[in-house]
Amino acid sequence: MSNRLKDKWALVTGASSGFGAETARQLADLGANLLLGARREDRLAQVAADCQARGAASAHVHKLDVADTASVNAFADWAKATAGRVDLLINNAGGAHGVERVEDGRDADWEAMFQSNALGILRVSRAVLPLMKPHPGGIILNIGSIAGRVAYEGGSAYCASKAAERSITKALRLELNGTGLRVGTIDPGMAETEFSMVRLKGDKEKADAVYAGVEPLTAGDVAEAIVWAANRPPHVCIDEILMMCTAQAAPHKVHRGEG
Ligand SMILES: NC(=O)c1ccc[n+]([C@@H]2O[C@H](COP(=O)([O-])OP(=O)(O)OC[C@H]3O[C@@H](n4cnc5c(N)ncnc54)[C@H](OP(=O)(O)O)[C@@H]3O)[C@@H](O)[C@H]2O)c1
Repeated sequence: MSNRLKDKWALVTGASSGFGAETARQLADLGANLLLGARREDRLAQVAADCQARGAASAHVHKLDVADTASVNAFADWAKATAGRVDLLINNAGGAHGVERVEDGRDADWEAMFQSNALGILRVSRAVLPLMKPHPGGIILNIGSIAGRVAYEGGSAYCASKAAERSITKALRLELNGTGLRVGTIDPGMAETEFSMVRLKGDKEKADAVYAGVEPLTAGDVAEAIVWAANRPPHVCIDEILMMCTAQAAPHKVHRGEG
């Protein structure tokens, strides 16, 4: 497979764990330059060290809270000073908070999900697009979810925030038509990362139960799809990828084996 990502500048949000960290590592394998952001700087530093060891052209980290406009703008200023350009933007930062039905939902959970999963993508894209527009062939990949396509009980706000991600992706695709920039969404189903620990507020027993009897997607599986989409030639835009583990035919249709 041709490597079109060597020496390109890739910016990954939510690079401190899960899909973002693994995408950074796989981009490092291809010799990309990395601009990595998240709130946990110690974890970011560890990922950057992994990336350097795996052959990244360079790996740089900066604190980023996509829920805060000032933080996003400071991050983009830092990216401009560090790299001067961005070829690949992975809008991955986000997650789910809570599994309550609407009647029991909490404002703080709802707000956190819309802040990161929807508004975060808008803020980061607005701030980073000036670094991309002079360089046709660049690509924005947003991380959506099966939840953005199919709603489920206890997922109202998470599903809605991921449906918003889908609409933002489609609007950006239209707005950037003619610029040579590409836009797509990667929509995974159940994957084992820190996602369930965050969603279930650190309850490990409940988080483990989400994956009981199933071989879920791994962060590596999802990162492979992201990197594959990013590595297409400039005239090819992967508009969307929906991927689930074999045992998951739909959000509610999960085959669980023994043990
Ligand atoms: N795992 C799944 O089953 C699944 C399925 C479909 C879609 N997704 C989506 O995939 C994306 C990545 O999730 P994951 O599974 O890799 O979970 P994860 O392991 O919990 O990683 C989430 C990442 O997002 C970052 N993040 C969260 N809020 C942020 C904020 N306000 N500002 C900056 N960074 C923030 C976290 O970093 P810090 O905490 O250090 O800031 C972390 O690096 C999310 O958008 C999630 O909704 C996950």
